[in-house]
Amino acid sequence: MFFLNILKCILEVFEIHSKKQLNQDNKLSIRYLAGKLSNRVLFFDSSDKINSLYYSLRINKQSEHKINRNMKKHLLFLTILSLFIACKNKETDSSKDEGEYAHLLSTAQTLFQPISSVKMEEPDPDKVLLGKHLYFDTRLSGEGNISCNSCHNLETYGVDNLQFSPGDAEGTVGGRNSPTTFHAALHKMQFWDGRAADVEEQAGGPILNPLEHNIKDEQQLVNRLKEVELYHELFSNAYGSDDPITFDNLTNAIGAFERTLMPESRFDKYLEGDESALSNSEKKGLMVFIDSGCITCHSGVALGGQMLQKFGLYHDYWKHTESKEIDYGLFDISEDESEKYFFKVPGLRNVTHTAPYFHDGSVQDLKDAVRIMAKLQRDVELSDEEIDDVTVFLESLTADISDEIKKSPFES
Ligand code: HEC
Ligand code: HEC
Repeated sequence: MFFLNILKCILEVFEIHSKKQLNQDNKLSIRYLAGKLSNRVLFFDSSDKINSLYYSLRINKQSEHKINRNMKKHLLFLTILSLFIACKNKETDSSKDEGEYAHLLSTAQTLFQPISSVKMEEPDPDKVLLGKHLYFDTRLSGEGNISCNSCHNLETYGVDNLQFSPGDAEGTVGGRNSPTTFHAALHKMQFWDGRAADVEEQAGGPILNPLEHNIKDEQQLVNRLKEVELYHELFSNAYGSDDPITFDNLTNAIGAFERTLMPESRFDKYLEGDESALSNSEKKGLMVFIDSGCITCHSGVALGGQMLQKFGLYHDYWKHTESKEIDYGLFDISEDESEKYFFKVPGLRNVTHTAPYFHDGSVQDLKDAVRIMAKLQRDVELSDEEIDDVTVFLESLTADISDEIKKSPFES
């Protein structure tokens, strides 16, 4: 029996390898393997190593050859390790009978982390208060028609549920779907193509974008805010009395506010160890999510937000999403052919409520988005039942958002 198991494991791991090698995407095969292995109650350790390997690859393109060699070594290491762990695990699986979801929690804990595990600096309440005012203030737009909250409405999970959002100037509309601001600060990079490093850097973008806030330049906005008594008070509380109203302080304060947009969901409770936080059908969905390899990209505390990946690894995305325009994603910035159609893997928290989906809001129904993902990123056809299961699981990622967070500071 034991030897039969070992044999099965060897075949299985071998199959994983050969399948992924066909797809000659080394980065992905490593992440995939890590995911597949974590399935079998694996190591935090190695998946961290894989992440750093992945990042060094992105950052340090010149030494790609060297890294490829390292990756091969790493793959070998993983294979050997996987044989041991996978086989050992199967053995214990069959000898214990603890119910269907017995190992699910510990597996999930190696793949995802609850919000409470994130080490966040204690927010400065004065900066947060200022940031919240700025977030809701239409004075931050050219004609005074919009605020951050117009497109990232905190009443509706940080989005406007439109395919493309209208800008401040009449008739203008953006070319990408507005992502949610909730939990965005957990991401390693901002925007669909990752072009801003963090929420502070990001905040300057929309203000000066003619299709969004449509402010001419930094000085125009600073002058405008200097005319408002309230802002003299709020800025000097947060940044001291020496010329506090600056564009840098403004983006810093908005960022500080966004860092507080971290409401928790039932999935967090589950990851903290409360087995009863998820229903059995949600657990079943979580299993399908893991087994379908979604975790290769959607893992960690935000279930995404940690890397850029090709949208359409196996097929042209626009043939499945019926997108009218083809967006090259990261390629438009890097002009690197190998980065065509690369987009940030979005986080999946609150995803049930942030339709429409994908960078161009081309897909309205979450079930379609799940089906398309499996097809494009994993070349797998999920059954209707599996799609339903995953969708049920995704609902457990919906945060409980307090009225306090949603309320505009300008309302009395
Ligand atoms: C007119 C609609 C609109 C307004 C107003 C707007 N945004 Fe956005 N926001 C977007 C769109 C569209 C994107 C995605 C653009 C892209 O990736 O190219 C985005 C991206 C973001 C992101 C990145 C999230 C992620 O997951 O990558 C953050 C954070 C954000 N906006 C915050 C803000 C803040 C803060 C303000 C106010 C200063 C603001 N936005 C104003 C539409 C808007
Ligand atoms: C190889 C990486 C990868 C894998 C595997 C993957 N995804 Fe994605 N996912 C992405 C990327 C990249 C996007 C953004 C695509 C775009 O809009 O340009 C995305 C977008 C999504 C979205 C839309 C989110 C939004 O806010 O618009 C959902 C839902 C989703 N994925 C679910 C899944 C599910 C379920 C699976 C498993 C069947 C899965 N993904 C597997 C990379 C991946």
